[in-house]
Amino acid sequence: MAETTYRICTLPGDGIGPEIMEQAERLLEAVSKAFGVTFDCERQLIGGAAIDATRAAGEKVTALPPATLSAAQAADAVLLAAVGGPRWDDPTPGAVRPEQGLLAIRKNLGLYLNLRPVRIYDALRDASPLRPERLDGVDLLIVRELTGGLYFGRHERQVDVEGAGRDGTKGQTAIDTLEYAEFEIERVLRWAYEAAARRSKVVTSVDKANVLETSRLWREVNHRLNAEFEDVEGEDMLVDNCAMQLVANPAQFDVLVTENTFGDILSDEASMLTGSLGMLASASLGDGAALYEPSHGSAPDIAGKGVANPIAQILSVELMLRYSFQMDEAADAVAGAVEDVLAAGWRTADLADGTTDASHLLGTAAMGDKILEAFALRAGSREA
Ligand code: IPM
Ligand code: MG
Repeated sequence: MAETTYRICTLPGDGIGPEIMEQAERLLEAVSKAFGVTFDCERQLIGGAAIDATRAAGEKVTALPPATLSAAQAADAVLLAAVGGPRWDDPTPGAVRPEQGLLAIRKNLGLYLNLRPVRIYDALRDASPLRPERLDGVDLLIVRELTGGLYFGRHERQVDVEGAGRDGTKGQTAIDTLEYAEFEIERVLRWAYEAAARRSKVVTSVDKANVLETSRLWREVNHRLNAEFEDVEGEDMLVDNCAMQLVANPAQFDVLVTENTFGDILSDEASMLTGSLGMLASASLGDGAALYEPSHGSAPDIAGKGVANPIAQILSVELMLRYSFQMDEAADAVAGAVEDVLAAGWRTADLADGTTDASHLLGTAAMGDKILEAFALRAGSREA
């Protein structure tokens, strides 16, 4: 029988993106050998890299070139690293920004659901700013709505607006609109309830219903689903309270579901439970091929130095194996390899703390090597 072939569109993007993507590509090669599947990887441009390339070629300047979008649409899955950087922070209203590439690919692929699992590694308990005992029993899944709300509303700048300046003079006004249709809320909440039914059976729906109309609609839909899923306990939580509860008592959460902006903010906060933003992977699911990416950004301050933590990128491959290719055994071997390497004391700079032995501090590629070694052991013992 011919080997199964999966087409993967890889998007290294900007900053540390290409460095961490390289480690993910090496891992895919190892998975391919160990599990007898072929990954047909095709690199494409996105973000600042795409802006530079389209500008240099005299084409329409864009952060998501048509070739990238068609490659992503034709792929079985998309693996993205990160976009953005100060080089493309053009303050001119209407200027093309790297982040537009990311938002556009999410929208075009219909990726309305973003999953960010927050897993605690025993070995990293001391790397978290939280007291270790607060991390007992923490295992939560953040479900973020990804193609609606504020990030996809109308963004507008008005100039010479009467009374908008200081002391009643003319000045500027900025407008961002926040809108949600019922179906956009329902499909995300439904996924959260279905996921919770397979986990600890608690859904916390996060909103700001004491102020926002979109949140009041969100809450109504949540109550409807709560009634439908009898064996899942559903609750509402205000977002400001949730931000506090995430550090005060994070173990209370199982599935935390929320709209785009709140999910963006709360997932960065929750990443610190794991010790570093460099540990948090994400899966974006929707109508067609899914996209996998770290929850962190392009870290321009450390780009090109070979010190970035590749683990969130590697765990994004784990999620890809699980959700897109149903390769649970391979995914378990990847997750296990990361655990083994951390348990052996190996750290990238972001994970180091007072107890870290300097001889165990690794750069990006060396961390990739360690994870590949551990993966080979895990995958090898599978065959034995
Ligand atoms: C994320 C990022 C993006 C987002 C930015 C880069 C547009 O912060 O994936 O969390 O806000 O979605
Ligand atoms: Mg973010």
